[in-house]
Amino acid sequence: MTITHGAVPAGGQPDPDGLDTAERLTPEQLRELQLERLRWTLRHAYQNVPHYRRAFDAAGVHPSDCTSLDDLASFPFTTKDDLRENYPFGMFAVPREQVNRIHASSGTTGRPTVVGYTAGDLDTWATVMARSIRAAGGRAGDIVHVAYGYGLFTGGLGAHYGAEKLGCTVVPVSGGMTARQVQLINDFQPSIIMLTPTYMLTLLDEFERQGLDPKESSLRVGIFGAEPWTPAMRTEIEERAGIDAVDIYGLSEVIGPGVSQECVETKDGLHVWEDHFYPEIVDPLGGDVRADGETGELVFTSLTKQAMPVIRYRTRDLTRLLPGTARPAFRRMAKVTGRSDDMIIVRGVNLFPTQIEEIVLRMPGLSPHFQLVLTRQNRMDHLTVQVEAAPGAATETRKNTAAQVRHVVKDRIGVTVDVDVVDPESLERSVGKLRRIKDLRTED
Ligand code: DLL
Repeated sequence: MTITHGAVPAGGQPDPDGLDTAERLTPEQLRELQLERLRWTLRHAYQNVPHYRRAFDAAGVHPSDCTSLDDLASFPFTTKDDLRENYPFGMFAVPREQVNRIHASSGTTGRPTVVGYTAGDLDTWATVMARSIRAAGGRAGDIVHVAYGYGLFTGGLGAHYGAEKLGCTVVPVSGGMTARQVQLINDFQPSIIMLTPTYMLTLLDEFERQGLDPKESSLRVGIFGAEPWTPAMRTEIEERAGIDAVDIYGLSEVIGPGVSQECVETKDGLHVWEDHFYPEIVDPLGGDVRADGETGELVFTSLTKQAMPVIRYRTRDLTRLLPGTARPAFRRMAKVTGRSDDMIIVRGVNLFPTQIEEIVLRMPGLSPHFQLVLTRQNRMDHLTVQVEAAPGAATETRKNTAAQVRHVVKDRIGVTVDVDVVDPESLERSVGKLRRIKDLRTED
């Protein structure tokens, strides 16, 4: 079977300035390219994936109904449940023999979600990742320390092949063995580091534990993603590490990391690589499409994926779309504030862990390490913020600091929480994607 998606190549050759040809498209050229690719994707999914044929038929739509980008809104959504029901390979649109790589989500609840890539998809992925690393400030010849986990998780291998494609020297360390990470950074002198922001905090603590000042290291740029992080966290990391900290976003179902990337020169949200991934923002409940600028759930349709096209995939991530800046043709997405699944409802008030992060990181006397413990008391959900005191902070002032955090949370978010300021080094450290919420609720 020959796979093609129109006359347009999946990637693009860098021009003398190092930008992809796609990064130089005008908005009109981009829209035209997107429509051509969207029509190919809808046909490809309908013809080759029984799930999409059934879903389109049930919704009374056919790929030929799509004659403008707005027509996409009449096609049905795809959810994580659809992927689970077709576990493991049922969403593939090519014979399994043409699938060169598999990745999968951890599947903490229920079956894992499996995703597949053809050789062409792997090339597309490396292309968008190379573009992302470049937008973050990386250049051919840089040494890139990759501390995202390697394996079924898409972070490590995604970063790896993108950095190689850009022409960098990759150090594939993966997550864990934190003391050794510090040694390798000292010995190999990388200028770029790629890992989750919470693991970066762990690494910074380790530098200090070894009596080293991370600001003196060779690192120049950190490319952080795989979990939500706030502007306050950016300030914390940039000040302690003496680097530029930029945001990278992605999800396995859409390709992995490299769906969107913040440009280092503007640090104003993440440009979505719209020549490969078409974004929409929808009402998280009703599903109606929302205008650019309005907050809602991010939905993606792949435009060039061969092995596993996704049509209107519900990410559950909450954000909004903004006009392009550093890459004018591509819209930006604002930093993701959280996943709808991570929203905690305490006595009727919605709260995201990122809101607590903003407060904790700005409070003197506290470290940036915290976790949220959910319990149920008298049928009411109850939230305790456990946060570590800053090393060296006076023990007598902890009660005061806790009361202050409690007050600010009540004032800004409108919920009453308990705050425990605990000993330094007493909470579990992140070595990858951190689970902020510890849910101890039992049904009653
Ligand atoms: O986390 C892919 C990735 C790896 C992205 C490395 C960036 C860096 P999944 O394991 O499938 O894939 O998890 C995807 O993680 O839907 C978001 O909820 C969250 N997420 C990823 N990047 C960000 C980010 C990878 N920059 C899920 N900000 C997504 C906030 C993020 N949340």
